[in-house]
Amino acid sequence: MRKNIVAGNWKMNKTFQDAEELISTIAGELDEKDLSCKVIVCPPSVYLEMSSDYADESILSIAAQNVSSHNNGAYTGEISASMLGSMEIAYCIVGHSERRKFFNETDAELSEKVDQLLDYNIMPIFCVGEQLEEREKGIQFDIVRTQIEKGLFHLNNDEFLNIVVAYEPVWAIGTGVVASPEQAQEMHSFIRGLIAEKYGSETAEETTILYGGSCNPSNAATLFANKDVDGGLIGGASLKADDFVKIAMSF
Ligand code: PGA
Repeated sequence: MRKNIVAGNWKMNKTFQDAEELISTIAGELDEKDLSCKVIVCPPSVYLEMSSDYADESILSIAAQNVSSHNNGAYTGEISASMLGSMEIAYCIVGHSERRKFFNETDAELSEKVDQLLDYNIMPIFCVGEQLEEREKGIQFDIVRTQIEKGLFHLNNDEFLNIVVAYEPVWAIGTGVVASPEQAQEMHSFIRGLIAEKYGSETAEETTILYGGSCNPSNAATLFANKDVDGGLIGGASLKADDFVKIAMSF
């Protein structure tokens, strides 16, 4: 049975003190709840160690937001998968649209990041999604297919079983314009179909596919009610403990 996951991507927000207050409030609130999903918090990398102190692998895990495509060495400012692994970080976002857009991350580089993470037993949360113009042209399925084929389809079946996919239409990220439940379900089912074609239906059924883009406590339940939507990657609403915990309670 695939896992339902709600992951909070804090992006480049919060001072150390505010981050500690947020993670401790989230951990405290989750402790009292009966959850039907796994919760992941993705703080900025400088707060990973502090955040890990509040994690409890059965309910709350910590993820990095990015990783280097290189193993180790002279890459000033980069953080390697071996470093994350040595801190027992269990997940890492790869290929968020902001990384693709502002840091020119290519499909080839992203596939190397995926390999690095898998080498250190860290599960990639691999983001895909089309831009507004691409949806307007009706090519959203081609875009997502290419992102998945180039970033992930070099993996073998056992490796692929460690992948979480996040569908994040770029036009919905941080805009307040959320995909309709039908749009989300349609794309999630398309993605699961691609995985089934390549790896078989058993692997496809085991793969968690998250939705991301303006997900909040009011729309989470209708999105997560769809058969192929296994949770969310939450940006803005993950910066407020109450909203984030409400989203995690939306299954
Ligand atoms: P948002 O961001 O929830 O603020 O739209 C989602 C994301 O970027 O992962």
